[in-house]
Formats: sequence, structure tokens, C-alpha cells
Amino acid sequence: MSQESQPPLTNPILDKVDAHSHHVPHGWPELAEVAGGGADWPWLKPLTEREAMIMVGSAEFRRIGDNCWSPEVRLSDMARSGVTHQVVSPTPVFFGYDRPPEQAMRVARVLNDLGREMFADTGEAFSTFCQVPLQDADLACAELDRCLANGHRGVEIGNHVGDRDLDDAGIVTFLQHCAEVGAPVFVHPWDMPNSPRLNRYMLQWLTGMPAETHLSILSLILSGAFDRIDDRLRIAFAHGGGSFAFWLGRVENAWQRSPNVNRGSEKPPSHYLDRILVDSVVFDQRALRLLVDTLGADHVLLGSDHPYPLGEEPVGHVVEDAEAADWLTAEQAAAIRGGNARRYLGLA
Ligand code: CO
Repeated sequence: MSQESQPPLTNPILDKVDAHSHHVPHGWPELAEVAGGGADWPWLKPLTEREAMIMVGSAEFRRIGDNCWSPEVRLSDMARSGVTHQVVSPTPVFFGYDRPPEQAMRVARVLNDLGREMFADTGEAFSTFCQVPLQDADLACAELDRCLANGHRGVEIGNHVGDRDLDDAGIVTFLQHCAEVGAPVFVHPWDMPNSPRLNRYMLQWLTGMPAETHLSILSLILSGAFDRIDDRLRIAFAHGGGSFAFWLGRVENAWQRSPNVNRGSEKPPSHYLDRILVDSVVFDQRALRLLVDTLGADHVLLGSDHPYPLGEEPVGHVVEDAEAADWLTAEQAAAIRGGNARRYLGLA
């Protein structure tokens, strides 16, 4: 099927920024040689010219296509969905937060440099986000600074480092640094709990990811981390913030009634809603409406999770359907489609 022969699905003169997409570079040096630490680093097994398998040790992790690494293919996908700018983040399997910090640092440097290289000749079409060794605040800050100087726009982080959540002192130090240097942060769930109950039907993705994101937003709110972190921090959460918006009422009630819940933050949870952004990868107008009603249309960024199979295709159609259904005003839709992301990225 030729992509070129398909007409654009949206008006290309409209600004449309996709804040949630991923890349995988096509090749990288043997990571065990770069970093040390044994043979179970991810590697890429070529399948055809246009397809490859991400391997973790000897296990197949995910089959990917050239839309992960080819800017030309991505640009053609973007044109088809009317996307004018795409934020490209790493794929979380490469974070290495469970490794010694120096090893994760060396791997981050390699993948971040390849991430820049991939999009070096594409003008203004892409913003790239880097990854950092989040298990070590000093190394994470240093790698972020190096990457910003090399042209990365912001940073994607996993929503936890083992048992440390986003309110961990080291991670708060890193987030404070992001606020100070003006780097937008994109929080992606990863490393979901596993069990026989979750290890089927992609349930780690379908129930684990939304719960993980909810958990990490609550860790920032209930610990009082948002009381301590500079309010210049621009932090966005994937997949509509997971379960958070739906369960805000339950959390608010718990905070009002239980000293086990309200001993960390100065204010009730609803006070901190303007501190977070979420993307629109929720697939259902009712869910999008909840996000807009709860957080405000100025706190939602269009996103897709392109090019992965659980992503939205065509990109942004839940936002366009909401505008067509008339409950989202043209102004709100334009903000979600592009204006909010440009502010988040510092491109406005
Ligand atoms: Co994603």
C-alpha cells in the first residue's frame, strides 16, 4: 500500500504537534562493549530491510519497522495525519535504570547521540527528547545538560527507578534541575509489575501502565514534592495521565479524611492540578472530556504513541472528533492540537 497515494486526513495548514512518539535508532554498538555489565542489554536483530526485532538478551521484546528510525518514513506518516511537528522520545526498554549508574550513563550517551543524528537534517519537523541515568541525580543532570547543548529539546523519564518513585530525593533534584534549565519532562510508564495474572493479553500495558502513571502523579502530589519543586517545571504524563483523572475524587476524599494521606502535601490534591500536563492518548471522547473538565484544555497535549501498535491512528482523531462533536471549542481544540505543546516545548 503506497502511503504517498493517500490524501491527507486533516487540513495541513493547521498546526498539529504530536507530543508522544518514540524512536529506535537502526543500529548501535554492542551495548555490553560500550557499558559493560553482561550480555543482556537490548540489541536489534534485522529481519528485513524495513523490519527488525528488539531483543533483550535472547528474548524477543518487540518487532519494529523503519518508521522507528527513518525520518523520511516518519515525515510521510506525519503528512498523512497532518502532523506538523513531532516530539520523538526514546523507547523505555533502553533506560537501564536497574544498572550501575555509569553503565546507564554510557548507554544513554550513545543512544542520545544517535537520536540527534537521526533527525539532524530534518529542519524544524522534530523535537528530540533524551534519556538520562535517572538512578543518579548528578549524572542525570550532566547528561541532560550535554544533550540540551547538542540540540535535544527535553527529556523523557520512566515513571520510577525500581522502588523509588518520582518523589525520591534524587529524582526531585533532577526535576528541579529541569525546571531551572527550562527542559520539558515527559514521564512514560515502564517496568510494570509482572505476575501470571498480568503476563497475558498485554495486561501490563492495559492495566499496569495506567496504574503506574497514576501512582507516580500521586507520589509527586501527596509527598509535597510539588511544594518543593519550582513551579516553572513543565512536566507531562503519557496516556492521559493514566488513571489519575478518573480517581482524583477518591484521592481528594482520602486526603480530607485520613491523616495517613494528608501528611505530605501542604494543600489537597486538587490544588496541584495546574502543575501537570497530560497527553491525549486515550482513544475515547468521554475520557478526553474528563481530562479537559478536570485539568483544563490548556493542560492537554495531543499525542499518539506513534509508531507503536497501541498508538492512535490517525494521529489526533479523538481531538478532531471532539471538535466535530462540538463539545470542544475551536479554540480549545487548537490549544490541544498545537498551542499547548509549543508552550511546553518552549517553541511558542
Ligand atoms: Co509511549
